[in-house]
Amino acid sequence: MKKTIRLGSVFSGIGAPEQALNKLGCDTQIVFACDNGEIEIKTPVDEINKIIKKLSLKEANKKIKEIYASTKKINYMKISYTANYKVKEDDWFEDIRFLDGKPYKGKIDMLIGGSPCQSFSIIGKRAGLEDTRGTLFFEYARLVKQCQPKVFIYENVPGILTHDKGNTWKVIKSVFNSLGYKLYSEILNAKDYGIPQDRKRLFVIGFKDHNVNFSFPKKIELKTEMKDYLEKNVDVKHYLGKKGFEFVTNPKYRNRARINPKIIQTQKANQQFNWNGDFVFEPLSKVKNNKEIMSRSYVSTWNGQKGVIRQLSYRECLRLMGFSDSFKIVVPNVPAYRQAGNSIVVDVLENIFKEIFKVVKF
Ligand SMILES: C[S@@+](CC[C@H](N)C(=O)[O-])C[C@H]1O[C@@H](n2cnc3c(N)ncnc32)[C@H](O)[C@@H]1O
Repeated sequence: MKKTIRLGSVFSGIGAPEQALNKLGCDTQIVFACDNGEIEIKTPVDEINKIIKKLSLKEANKKIKEIYASTKKINYMKISYTANYKVKEDDWFEDIRFLDGKPYKGKIDMLIGGSPCQSFSIIGKRAGLEDTRGTLFFEYARLVKQCQPKVFIYENVPGILTHDKGNTWKVIKSVFNSLGYKLYSEILNAKDYGIPQDRKRLFVIGFKDHNVNFSFPKKIELKTEMKDYLEKNVDVKHYLGKKGFEFVTNPKYRNRARINPKIIQTQKANQQFNWNGDFVFEPLSKVKNNKEIMSRSYVSTWNGQKGVIRQLSYRECLRLMGFSDSFKIVVPNVPAYRQAGNSIVVDVLENIFKEIFKVVKF
């Protein structure tokens, strides 16, 4: 039977959980989604809180949108998200700090999000929800408390385990403990779940029902490599000129730029720029009849073979994050690469969901 999932999505980005649920054939109802598109606003938080204090959820949402619109910056996350998933304007929130979860109590099955790995240094050492105030982690925990979802999934970089000699994690863990959920946490690597990307991420999963016995998904043998995710033709703008070719083939920069790896390194927000990331070598025999490529790109030797080198296209980066080709690309190159690099690997989430579905009814 088709599962209906009422989803609360925060730090939504390009909606990796939404993709995963769709791929699993679920009927996903997005109760709310929220992403500020990495835009900074100048109005102080306290001042905004004073303004919206007496407003309804809908009016407050409108007010926050006005404040963001006054920056004249474009929220590319919203553009990508709303082009790909069904969410009503009133259910889209710009900023988690001003999203009141109380009206959603009991109306959400899963709350999912990974706060940006901003500095956690504001977190104190006394380990309470109040001590994390001011961090986006606090806002996430507050929403769990207010919405009371059946399950929550929190994702972040493994570095939070060792940040500030482990103190940060101690605080985060005790905040999670204070929410009254049964907790599981584990570091999972995308390459163990079917995607050739070496991407380790920490997942914290909380269950409202303490009788649940959850296990993280078992590792799967990797059967694909980067070349299986490449497009037949990519735009000529992705091909490198002389400087780029010489940079990425220089052994000195092997940690920054790699050519034709089987497993790509962790995609990052700034991937594919300044010759960062993973690159594709194409032998001359493949491209020599393409006038456009031949006129734009630098031909030289790599590994004893003559050819050209190109970046991964945005579509290829998305594929290597587990996104299907039905995902619509509607933003320019720079935000597009950022969005892919910031996302969660869809296949990892699919495998997590399958395990959750074994132990929780929706
Ligand atoms: C690590 S990314 C998460 C991406 C997402 N998991 C996905 O599947 O694409 C963090 C996101 O948090 C967003 N963000 C940063 N500050 C925010 C805030 N105050 N309110 C809402 N979203 C915020 C960023 O724009 C970014 O998209």
